[in-house]
Amino acid sequence: MGIPKDMKDIPLLGNISGEVREAFLSLLSAENAKAGEIIFEEGSTSDRFFIIKDGEVEIRKAVDVQKARYKLIAVLSSGEFFGEMAVFMGEPRSAEAIARTDATLLTVSRNDLSGLFAKSPDTAFKVMEFLTSVLMERLRNTTKELAIVYETGRQVAAARSVPELSERVMDGLFGALDNAEAGLLIVWNDFNAEYEVCGRRGFGLEPGASISKDDGLMKWLFENRESFLSFNLANDGRLAGAAGGIYEGARSMVVSPLLSRDGLIGVLIAFSRTRTNAFSFNHMVLLSAVSGYATVALENLKYIQQEIDRNLLTQTKSSIL
Ligand code: CMP
Repeated sequence: MGIPKDMKDIPLLGNISGEVREAFLSLLSAENAKAGEIIFEEGSTSDRFFIIKDGEVEIRKAVDVQKARYKLIAVLSSGEFFGEMAVFMGEPRSAEAIARTDATLLTVSRNDLSGLFAKSPDTAFKVMEFLTSVLMERLRNTTKELAIVYETGRQVAAARSVPELSERVMDGLFGALDNAEAGLLIVWNDFNAEYEVCGRRGFGLEPGASISKDDGLMKWLFENRESFLSFNLANDGRLAGAAGGIYEGARSMVVSPLLSRDGLIGVLIAFSRTRTNAFSFNHMVLLSAVSGYATVALENLKYIQQEIDRNLLTQTKSSIL
């Protein structure tokens, strides 16, 4: 497959012009990845570096040996690069890359890059300077996530009731997403067999409001079981036909499902009423970290409650007999 003609949107090449730019472009080969396709696995060896021409790519890391569960590390889109660590360090891939949407990728091998760098040390300097600035930004994001996750984990794990947990999850959400103007925590209620608003801050549905399983957003989450970022709700085709009850009055939102062994046990949502594009993929990664803690804490609360109920039942039985 040929290289797409429109190469303006590749920040990595921003400072490189003339013959060297042409030489760089001639080293790139283009390939397509279908949504859901694994581009490379964690631990695999390869010397290829990727630039995203079109589409979105998820970077994720397995958190168990069976590779049944993954931690979302980043979502990268058009113009961004990945796969540089294995290429420059000569080590196995530190995480998995998977196409989140259909994507067009441009790839170049370590050998071809070093050949070009040997001929043009100035290009090597410019490319490395750019890579370093992006890597520093990624490190900054990771450090922020670590601090938020640490604090949210501590707070949420200590909650003794669902209302207390909801308050702490809202603290985590607002700590992580500086542009959030509202937050909702919706949780499955076994008793009523419906989803219910447990936590709310800012505008939107009242605590206790129930959400139908047929709501457009809930249906989408059932089908896709992944975090969702809407830059502009007014024209988001993925929610076509949805009633919009959950996100009434919002212009953009980021959503993270609470997924446990029992399935979709809830959802955590941050909204902006004043801005479209209020959130980035990085916000989505942060929100998924908070929702991960909320899931574990809710499951723990459920087991504690079941244990209390069991003890009560045993005591009642023995007092009757
Ligand atoms: P590599 O180790 O070759 O393969 C996995 C890729 O995921 C890695 O290179 C980076 O390009 C990318 N990656 C790893 N950690 C992060 C992160 N914290 N943020 C963004 N991208 C990352």
